[in-house]
Amino acid sequence: MSTLHPRFRRLAAFSLALLLAACGGGGGGSTGPLPSFDTSAVAAADAGGMPNADWRAGPFAEIFVRGYQDSDGDGIGDLKGLISRLDYLKDLGITGLWLMPVTDSQDHDHGYAVTDYRGIERDYGSLADFDELLRQAHARGIGIVIDYVINHSAYDNPLFVNSRAAADNPFRGWYVWQNSVPSGWSIYGNNPWYGTDNGAYFAGFWSQMPDFNLRNPAVLAYHADSLRFWLNRGVDGFRFDAVGNLVENGPAAWENQPENDTVMNGVRQLVAGYANRYMVCEAPAAPQRYAANDTCGGSFAFGQQGNVIGASAGDTASVADTADYFNTAPAGMASFLSNHDSFAGDRLWDQMIGNTAEYRLAAATNLLQGSTPFIYYGEEIGMANGASGLSGDPRLRTPMSWTAGNTGTGGFTSGRPFRAFSANVAMNNVAAQQADPSSLLAFYKTLIALRKSRPSLMTGSYHAPRPSGAVMSFTRSLGAEKTLVVFNYGRSAASASVAGLPANATLQPLWPAGGTATAADAGGNAGIPLARQSFAVFAVNPP
Ligand code: NOJ
Repeated sequence: MSTLHPRFRRLAAFSLALLLAACGGGGGGSTGPLPSFDTSAVAAADAGGMPNADWRAGPFAEIFVRGYQDSDGDGIGDLKGLISRLDYLKDLGITGLWLMPVTDSQDHDHGYAVTDYRGIERDYGSLADFDELLRQAHARGIGIVIDYVINHSAYDNPLFVNSRAAADNPFRGWYVWQNSVPSGWSIYGNNPWYGTDNGAYFAGFWSQMPDFNLRNPAVLAYHADSLRFWLNRGVDGFRFDAVGNLVENGPAAWENQPENDTVMNGVRQLVAGYANRYMVCEAPAAPQRYAANDTCGGSFAFGQQGNVIGASAGDTASVADTADYFNTAPAGMASFLSNHDSFAGDRLWDQMIGNTAEYRLAAATNLLQGSTPFIYYGEEIGMANGASGLSGDPRLRTPMSWTAGNTGTGGFTSGRPFRAFSANVAMNNVAAQQADPSSLLAFYKTLIALRKSRPSLMTGSYHAPRPSGAVMSFTRSLGAEKTLVVFNYGRSAASASVAGLPANATLQPLWPAGGTATAADAGGNAGIPLARQSFAVFAVNPP
């Protein structure tokens, strides 16, 4: 058996590209042979992912593999480490994982600068480890969704190394080039064009992440082949990065262009050719647009996290916005409270300033409203931002807090962690909370179990949201099953006035434990008393 890293075996496989590229090379400061890569065609061959579609209802956990569990003492989380934590995730009730990029990257951190679309990040392990992860996750009823960065690659990706080598390189047209840096552009505060000695390339996010030219059919074909590469292995779907940024039409028309819909529609059709898969897009500036079925089908509900967090802190305008969001949004929205990007907010613990009553209200809203909920790793134990000294995104991407010390047996690593731990690791960690039935972790587990016990809470439609001051009620329905959910985000006791229930329906309490049964009157109205900062869930049973 070859001892070459799989990545280099693949490099050897694409000698034609190397030949073409080397023939076209000579400019752009490149000396010697240009790097090669695998752009071979991949035919669809669905070896099977999850056995049915139920897992797609969530909840999902967003996992930063680098920060989840180290298995070999190098201080960096890896796939084998994640495998060893699957039982924990199953016990929590998670049905799907979104893994931030696991493909080999230039940044060797968050992974969005991809150097190899068909290879595993060298710090994380091998394709064999990834296959084992799929096998073990599926055996536990957990689907695996991986991040796919379609908009841009790494500067060091061999595709771009070729593209930048010379204006007549065969891969020049795979990226966005023009003769010189134009003026008049500003994306996230920067001119996204970068000059070289043979032209200027476009990179909307970072000079080290050049944008693909997604008008080029060869590029679309390459991505389609790479997507099939993962789907054929049994990957259950994708989180697509930066879909608002795919195609640009000018300095005033660089975001959410119509061509983006066309690209994602093609991708969606490809993914839909495989059984039981799921896809969700990231488009913070126009999330609802990409939930439509002719584009992504699923999209993160950016904006709603702020509504929910504001509501949970008792802000009545936010309560109204929270109630309204899924009333007007298309189906397919995916909700979250925070993620790995600081533009989406700090870790929930920091936003709630450690107020666990507010924290629980936010978590419950995320898990019970009409969406596919995502939980950022560590949210279930109230993991805080990183310790002082960390800033920006890295403070959100610290090692998972498994034990109070978090090194040695049972902790994140037996070695030296790649990054400082969360600021509250000593207090909020899995080991401590597993021993405490009143912990946040126990709360998440019970609530997730409740959600999973009610099909209407998993995938039911969202009806009759009624915000009133700090109180909100709504129902979820699927077939004959109906569930009523009422929240009091306020700091004093209140009564929720619910209307539109079936006449004389019995309201059977499901949460909190020990709640009292009540009933709607002949007009379908009910008054539900609620303690301060509390919520209640009822099965609505016709008389
Ligand atoms: C969005 C990702 O969430 C973020 O982390 C990344 O830096 C940008 N897209 C660019 O890939």
